[in-house]
Amino acid sequence: MKTFKLTIAGGGSTYTPGIVKSLLDKKAEFKLEELRLYDINEERQRKVGILVKKVVETLDPDLKVIVTTDPREAFTDADFVFAQMRVGLYRMRELDEKIPLKYDVIGQETCGPGGLAYGLRTIYPMAELIDFCERYAKSSYWIVNYSNPAAIVAKAMHILRPKARILNICDMPVAIMRNMANILGCDRHDIVADYFGLNHFGWFTKIRVKDQDRTEELKAYVREHGYTPPEEKDQVRQEEASWKHTYENAKYLARMFPDYLPNTYMQYYLLGDQIVREADKNHTRANEVMEGREKQIFDAADAYERTGEIDMTPFFTGVHGEFIVEVAMSLAFNLRQRHLVMVPNCGAVKNVPDDAMVEIPAYITNEGPEPVRMGQIPTFYKGMVEQQEACEKLVVEAAIEGSYKKALMAFAMNKTVPSAFVAKKILDEMMEANKEFWPELK
Ligand code: NAD
Ligand code: G6P
Ligand code: MN
Repeated sequence: MKTFKLTIAGGGSTYTPGIVKSLLDKKAEFKLEELRLYDINEERQRKVGILVKKVVETLDPDLKVIVTTDPREAFTDADFVFAQMRVGLYRMRELDEKIPLKYDVIGQETCGPGGLAYGLRTIYPMAELIDFCERYAKSSYWIVNYSNPAAIVAKAMHILRPKARILNICDMPVAIMRNMANILGCDRHDIVADYFGLNHFGWFTKIRVKDQDRTEELKAYVREHGYTPPEEKDQVRQEEASWKHTYENAKYLARMFPDYLPNTYMQYYLLGDQIVREADKNHTRANEVMEGREKQIFDAADAYERTGEIDMTPFFTGVHGEFIVEVAMSLAFNLRQRHLVMVPNCGAVKNVPDDAMVEIPAYITNEGPEPVRMGQIPTFYKGMVEQQEACEKLVVEAAIEGSYKKALMAFAMNKTVPSAFVAKKILDEMMEANKEFWPELK
């Protein structure tokens, strides 16, 4: 049986235990010989590492675990790299969210100015990760990337490292499909979705279950309840209050724009005033996660070191852990499974630029994704996608050229930002806050 060497880059991530658990759940079909955790933050990763080692020891004692900050050790002969790094940690996510909110603009990890700031931090570290893989990994390596902001990362890597074997993915459409499955009373794997857009910026156009078109029935439900399932199922994450609210908000979008079913992230672009009004400017999602998911995992590591007892809560898999392993297995075994992933457009969405990185269905083969054509999209959606795409393109160019002018254009063009005055104030404050991370902008 073929065995694989797999590296998690961003080994100290709050998601590492869940992904490891998902890998262990699949060990009979997707057998790992080595699991490496790689991070630049030694202490953070050490703590996550001790939990991971303990769980692997129990569930797959033959699997060798390496915890390292040395790229050579981490990537040598790797078959797969799962990337999930957060450049600047939660400390910077907090600022991404709080600086725009000061100006009554959406404060969000990946949308609006916060997402652009996060993008400017992440482009070069991602290029470096690709360089490590080109240098040390097997020539057949695949990076399956979750690192956000995935839309900007995907766009930038397509320009800076066009030959890289990287597949950018997002768990949001899958999480929505999980809820759709709960609503329709089926398994999420039985759903075949048609979808178009950019990452965190898209719409489902058709939902089929075992060859039956269930789109209209689903739309009727979503107009009433959003994506809130009829009964709460176990898969939803622990800190759910804000997520429940997000799922519910889809009802407003489904009522106003009945053509398609929105990605939940569309709320930030289309319901912005309400979201800002409801936001607590002093306590944002970053604070919720720091006090919840992040604290829980480091408390679990401390408790384990003290008592030898392991709290398995951080090893919650959910769709996040399941999805990345499903994608990797389709790449590894040429399963040709259909998943929503990010690919260069090249005509797949006919009236959107060829060089856009679109999120659409694709069959995942061992040579990478084979995209499905989504055809022509109506004016409203085309206009929205083009504006967002141009914004993301400008921020990538700003990073590459070190251009303040292009960064300002990107901030001013983002649909969440009301004027160039506001764009400039936010950009200037963010530039100061991101001094240690951003390329110099002149
Ligand atoms: P986290 O802060 O807990 O973990 C990220 C880890 O990355 C940290 O340990 C950090 O030290 C490390 N890191 C930072 N820069 C690095 C570099 N240059 N090389 C190697 N490691 C580096 O964050 P988290 O909440 O667990 O999220 C991890 C990432 O996954 C984030 O980018 C998040 O946005 C992303 N994410 C994406 C999706 C998706 O749908 N695409 C879903 C969930 C999470
Ligand atoms: C979804 C998105 C991710 C994002 C995450 C944030 O899963 O697809 O891209 O990083 O939500 O979740 P959090 O719980 O950290 O706010
Ligand atoms: Mn995502």
